[in-house]
Amino acid sequence: MENDIGEILITEEQIRERTAELAREISEDYRGKDPLLICILKGGLMFLADLMREIQLPVEIDFMAVSSYGDATESSGIVRILMDLQRNIQGRHVLIVEDIIDTGQTLSYIIETLRARDPASIKVCTLLDKSARREVEIPLDYVGFDIPDKFVVGYGLDYGEIYRNLPYVAVLKPEMYST
Ligand code: PRP
Repeated sequence: MENDIGEILITEEQIRERTAELAREISEDYRGKDPLLICILKGGLMFLADLMREIQLPVEIDFMAVSSYGDATESSGIVRILMDLQRNIQGRHVLIVEDIIDTGQTLSYIIETLRARDPASIKVCTLLDKSARREVEIPLDYVGFDIPDKFVVGYGLDYGEIYRNLPYVAVLKPEMYST
């Protein structure tokens, strides 16, 4: 698997430090509240796990799975709910936890869907922001790293469902994928 990797964009150490910083900010901002962290599967899984253990608040977690990419490297713009939340989010302070925001299509759809359920607030925390690719403008409340427009894998991010378990974020060698 390591042989398929080009440049390591963000190291384990950088992820750890930045995640701790974000968790500190979140703990401050939500002081006195018990936010509901909503992890968007599958990519957000590793970030949620690391982020939540640094948050000094009584958080709850829930999961939602949506799909917009399939096995391709480009977003199709079509979003489908594959698995919905278990929790009722009415009156809750919701924090969406994502691995990456690219075009913004997925997040835009998720926010619209969740807003209709009447939560007290909705904020977004993403590890990676590929801001150059944005098609839908969405305010991001907590961002780990702004990254260039390169196809990245690792730390939850896949290509063809592989590479999610790499502990860092890296660029896949171009010969490893075809668009
Ligand atoms: C990725 C990522 C976001 C979305 C971002 O998920 O986790 O949900 O794409 O892309 P966008 O901003 O262009 O909409 P993906 O659909 O690859 O599913 P996965 O997390 O299960 O791999």
